[in-house]
Amino acid sequence: MMFDSNYDLKDESETLRFAESMSSHLHPGMNLYLKGELGAGKTTFVRGLLRGLGYQDKVKSPTYTLVESYSFLKFTIYHFDLYRFKSDHEWDDAGFREYFNETSICLIEWPEKAGGLLPEPDISIELSHESFGRHLHLIGFTPIGSECLKTII
Ligand SMILES: Nc1ncnc2c1ncn2[C@@H]1O[C@H](COP(=O)(O)OP(=O)(O)OP(=O)(O)O)[C@@H](O)[C@H]1O
Ligand SMILES: [Mg+2]
Repeated sequence: MMFDSNYDLKDESETLRFAESMSSHLHPGMNLYLKGELGAGKTTFVRGLLRGLGYQDKVKSPTYTLVESYSFLKFTIYHFDLYRFKSDHEWDDAGFREYFNETSICLIEWPEKAGGLLPEPDISIELSHESFGRHLHLIGFTPIGSECLKTII
């Protein structure tokens, strides 16, 4: 573990705003895990990241499609939701390994459903329910991930 930070987000708009501010610090090739129980705010966070990058349309939860993609000038964002995986083998069967490359940024909800088959994350984004809203715990696991987190206010 290389960098660790904690924030309190008191409502949905704060989650969106935080993610928006983070979006400009992302780089192609990064891999982000989004953790937390059902309804913790993972998809909301992705919506904020995409808005920060200028995406205006609706952001669908990939609950049934497993992955949604968003093309930008310099990279493509792949947003996964692995909640419905029944076994980690589905990760290999789906061919998702190919989505991880130097021109993509992968955002993965429910990464634990793929067991140990996923590439290691640059950043883990963990949200949890609190009486005041949500607690946000960010961990940078790689130099590029840690650098990204250090530059966020
Ligand atoms: N900081 C916050 N405080 C209170 N509510 C929030 C906060 N951030 C997001 N929410 C709300 O929490 C709910 C979370 O929904 P969201 O779909 O983002 O969760 P999720 O973690 O993606 O769930 P799932 O595992 O089912 O995909 C939304 O109704 C959203 O408005
Ligand atoms: Mg979700």
